[in-house]
Amino acid sequence: ERTDRWTAVDHYTFNHLHANKPSATPSPSSLQHALSTSQARGLPDIAVSPSQGKFLKLQAQIARAKNILEIGTLGGYSTIWLASAGPDVSVVSIEVSEKHAEIARANIAHAEYAERVDVVVGAGLDVLPRLVEEVGMGRRERFDFLFVDADKENNWAYVDLSLGMMRRGAVVVVDNVVRKGQLARDDTGDSRVEGVRKLIESVGMDDRLDGVVLQTVGEKSYDGFLMAIVNS
Ligand code: DHB
Ligand code: MG
Repeated sequence: ERTDRWTAVDHYTFNHLHANKPSATPSPSSLQHALSTSQARGLPDIAVSPSQGKFLKLQAQIARAKNILEIGTLGGYSTIWLASAGPDVSVVSIEVSEKHAEIARANIAHAEYAERVDVVVGAGLDVLPRLVEEVGMGRRERFDFLFVDADKENNWAYVDLSLGMMRRGAVVVVDNVVRKGQLARDDTGDSRVEGVRKLIESVGMDDRLDGVVLQTVGEKSYDGFLMAIVNS
């Protein structure tokens, strides 16, 4: 394991490219606030890393995303990054835990994104069909960016349901698809790894999506993102 070296590189690069940059958004202090309140309230230390958050922001900007859907808010750390993609960006973020949602809303408000972020409490499998119906009835705009970072067992169900309300050319990103390489081990017996395999194999068979997995190392160790585009 080279997590120390990976972490040092994350710190060096993030400090120069974001944390010490006066014009950087989200403000480094609002990001720090989100992390420290999350820790103080006992949330697990499983949010995306600062560099991964910045990567999500840039991906949303490259996609010219305006309506972003996130599944799995936790303390709102990645939500703050996504909301920072532009002044006209709106985020809907689904969170199963009322406690997590309350912490996230406070962190998002502290980052001054409250008016553009809607944290919806409920299980993804319950909330997503409601959103699909709202989009179908024209009461809600289609989404152009999806970030999935929730219970891994439901990865594919979340993407499959969300596809009913994404526009063509939309971008899908899913966190934690490599899990220290467990993905390619045949003896894990881990339902989360099985959930990632179901995702990858389903995307591979689905002509609505064109995807890739990019492996990552850094302060969150060795993992990876799935990225896919909704075929136009
Ligand atoms: C876990 C979940 C995550 O979303 C993550 O980024 C890291 C770990 C987990 O459930 O263990
Ligand atoms: Mg994650």
